[in-house]
Amino acid sequence: MAFHTIMLAVEDGIATITLNRPERLNALNRALVEELDQALDQVERNEAVKVAVITGAGEKAFAAGADINEFTGLKGVEALKHMEKIQRVFLKIERLSKSVVAAVNGYALGGGCELMMACDIAYASETARFGQPEINLGIIPGAGGTQRLPRLVGKMRAKELILTGDMIDAAEAYRIGLVNKVVPSGELMNEVKKLCEKLLSKWAVALKLAKAAIEEGSNAPLQEGMGIEAKAEAICFSTEDKEEGVAAFLEKRKPVFTGR
Ligand code: COA
Repeated sequence: MAFHTIMLAVEDGIATITLNRPERLNALNRALVEELDQALDQVERNEAVKVAVITGAGEKAFAAGADINEFTGLKGVEALKHMEKIQRVFLKIERLSKSVVAAVNGYALGGGCELMMACDIAYASETARFGQPEINLGIIPGAGGTQRLPRLVGKMRAKELILTGDMIDAAEAYRIGLVNKVVPSGELMNEVKKLCEKLLSKWAVALKLAKAAIEEGSNAPLQEGMGIEAKAEAICFSTEDKEEGVAAFLEKRKPVFTGR
């Protein structure tokens, strides 16, 4: 189907979803969230896709947050529905059976930062800026920020960002563990491609089970998480990929995984 607020391109096993409202700094309006939802479903269903990348169109922004124009007059139950929809879409990223990389090419604010935090790995250009500025609008993060940010960077750092609404630069985001890597602006997509190629070379049942075990286990007590891990590992042990991986090591060659 044709998208209007995003672009979806699939090439060599990599699906690239580009948030495409550059004139609004890729602000996440309802239409964009709906299209992102549908694009994620397509990525999940498409067996040719092994890895996904989410990035923003233009030079300035990954996404500057939810579209503030849609907040005028938004109240109570409608506001709840709006937030729950965005939360469901971001949760879909965490539950996707494929790895999702955020390529943060500029501002990642509010919902943009929350979207990035739902991805599996985040690379940022050195010009990227991060923050949860909702407090300046008299609201709080509503797309997972109060929950994912403290889990990622710790409670006190999360409180500082959310309570002050201040922005931080890419170097600081890296320092506090909000992004995995910072690269020169012109190199971002190249570096992300290299990462995707590495993930593609590991493409095996193990890749999705490792993600699922981390996601399910990070919300569970340690002992329960261990149970999730052991069961996921037992499944890995019954795959063709495991036979191939072990045989390749013993035969001193590179494994060729098939995802079976
Ligand atoms: N929702 C709706 N429109 C937005 C937006 C958002 N979250 N963020 C930016 N825009 C729009 C601006 O209104 C502007 O539109 P205009 O050209 O019609 O005036 C356009 O995008 C460009 O943004 P502008 O503010 O002119 O760019 P800037 O370089 O001066 O500032 C920011 C960039 C990111 C600092 C600034 O746009 C900003 O603070 N945005 C809001 C961030 C925010 O609060 N996000 C959380 C929302 S809950």
